[in-house]
Amino acid sequence: MCSGADSTAVRTAMWRALHVLIDEPPHVLDDTIGVQIAGIDGDDWQQRPDMDPERTRSNRSSIVARARATEDVVTDRGAQQYVVLGAGLDTFAQRDEGRVRVFEVDAPATQAWKRQRLDALGLLAPERLRLVPVDFEAGESWLDKAVSAGLDPAIPTVVSMLGVTMYLTREAITETLRAAASLAAGSVMVFSYSRPIEMAPLEIRPILEGAAEGAAASGHPWLSLLAPDEAISLARDAGFADVQVVTSSDLHNRYFANRHDRLSPFGGEDLVVATTGGE
Ligand SMILES: C[S@@+](CC[C@H](N)C(=O)[O-])C[C@H]1O[C@@H](n2cnc3c(N)ncnc32)[C@H](O)[C@@H]1O
Repeated sequence: MCSGADSTAVRTAMWRALHVLIDEPPHVLDDTIGVQIAGIDGDDWQQRPDMDPERTRSNRSSIVARARATEDVVTDRGAQQYVVLGAGLDTFAQRDEGRVRVFEVDAPATQAWKRQRLDALGLLAPERLRLVPVDFEAGESWLDKAVSAGLDPAIPTVVSMLGVTMYLTREAITETLRAAASLAAGSVMVFSYSRPIEMAPLEIRPILEGAAEGAAASGHPWLSLLAPDEAISLARDAGFADVQVVTSSDLHNRYFANRHDRLSPFGGEDLVVATTGGE
């Protein structure tokens, strides 16, 4: 891995791969491409403490569930355009094989690193994937930059922001949501949020406290943990007409209820699915 890699993005890519490598099929999401893009060779990474198969069961379940639920929205809506805010090592563009035009938005350093890695692997495909460098905290408009990169704001679009709000200030979250809410009628924004630790089930709190300390120590402090009511208000205030919360328990029922291996995203991130008006 070269400098520029965002450690939080690499970790989520590892959890997605771990799900495929150690959990029984059927897999909620089939994605080992992210670790390939990260340039991770061998399987030493599976020995990292944050990849412990037992202790991080809910983490990897939550990561694959949020991605799967979002990609189901892209498919169900028949979206022609998909914007991935804070894309990290998202691999929808590689797995979708070009049916949807994908715009990945991420911090400039992280994205420059990913561009280099995609190029090295022959995976840069400008006809289906555009990389848009934006720092959400720098007052830049991701929408203006995505339009300059070819996004058509008149077409209903799906926008995701997964595993990102916790690293942003509320002001930056508000601005990113406002831009998405200004898209064509029938556009859908899916974003995840983490609840304040004191709202988590008792047995999960120590894991979250450890994760919060680890995040701060690695230079990625959690800035915004949101209660469901606050997440809903942020989306409504941004201008979305319809706002629904999909809780981690809903995600369990949707994707894990028939499993017998105790995998469950319960206690992990919730999703907000917000739709622009006028449909
Ligand atoms: C935990 S990763 C999630 C990546 C991906 N969405 C996923 O689910 O695997 C967080 C991502 O948010 C991006 N990010 C964090 N703060 C940002 C900011 N201020 N501007 C742009 N991107 C940011 C990071 O670069 C990283 O790629």
